[in-house]
Amino acid sequence: MPLLGVIGGSGLYDIPGLEITGAEKIATPYGDPSDVYRIGKLAGTEVAFLPRHGTMHHIQPHKINYRANIWGFRELGVTKILSVGAAGGISGPMEPGSIVVPDQIFDMTSGRHSTFYEYDEVVHIDFTEPFCAGLRERIFAASEMAGLRVIRKGTYICVNGPRLETAAEIRAFSILGADMVGMTGMPEAVLARELELCFAGISVITNYAAGISGKKLTTTEVVESMKAATEKIKELLKAFFATDFPVPACFCGQALKEAKM
Ligand code: HPA
Repeated sequence: MPLLGVIGGSGLYDIPGLEITGAEKIATPYGDPSDVYRIGKLAGTEVAFLPRHGTMHHIQPHKINYRANIWGFRELGVTKILSVGAAGGISGPMEPGSIVVPDQIFDMTSGRHSTFYEYDEVVHIDFTEPFCAGLRERIFAASEMAGLRVIRKGTYICVNGPRLETAAEIRAFSILGADMVGMTGMPEAVLARELELCFAGISVITNYAAGISGKKLTTTEVVESMKAATEKIKELLKAFFATDFPVPACFCGQALKEAKM
């Protein structure tokens, strides 16, 4: 049974080196996930992979069925999810090509289904630290093993899209403390927490956010940068899966304790 899940974003529709052993189509109470879950082995570890935009990149960020995607992982028995996504760099060190493991997230989306507790139960999940501390530490250890530089903190601001931002929006986000901007980090992260799954993000900075470089932004740039970073992501994931690092304690598995009214 796969225990580790990987979600791929723009430009990452499969994991190079993943030996595919099967595919699972999962039906959920929330509808269909973005694609079948491809099951495979990487560095001896069983992994379930899902491209969040579909293999043909036909699902826009605001149309992704985030609930079905996360629910499907849990149905497969996945307890830990690494979510890879593209982001635009806002603050100084967030240059195109950088890999960032965000420690905070800021939700600017609207109209997305961002909870499993819409009816019946009243649940207020603690989300002070939105990403799993244990998984984050393990990513850092893997990056050291792979000799890769990753930026170990950063605030990710999530927008609805699908349009890119205005320069004024990015200036405002910068004042709010955002380091990078993307379209998919939320509600993925909170939905995983509501199901008590460990979840960490790996953001690839594909471009400078609007108004920062003075250049027009293109989706080609985003996809090309992601493709260019694929080798690094693959090395990072391989190192992550290859080693049985002691996982520092986390509280993700008890997220619902004292959260229900
Ligand atoms: N803005 C929002 N989402 C993104 C960007 C961006 O500049 N780059 C990659 N995803």
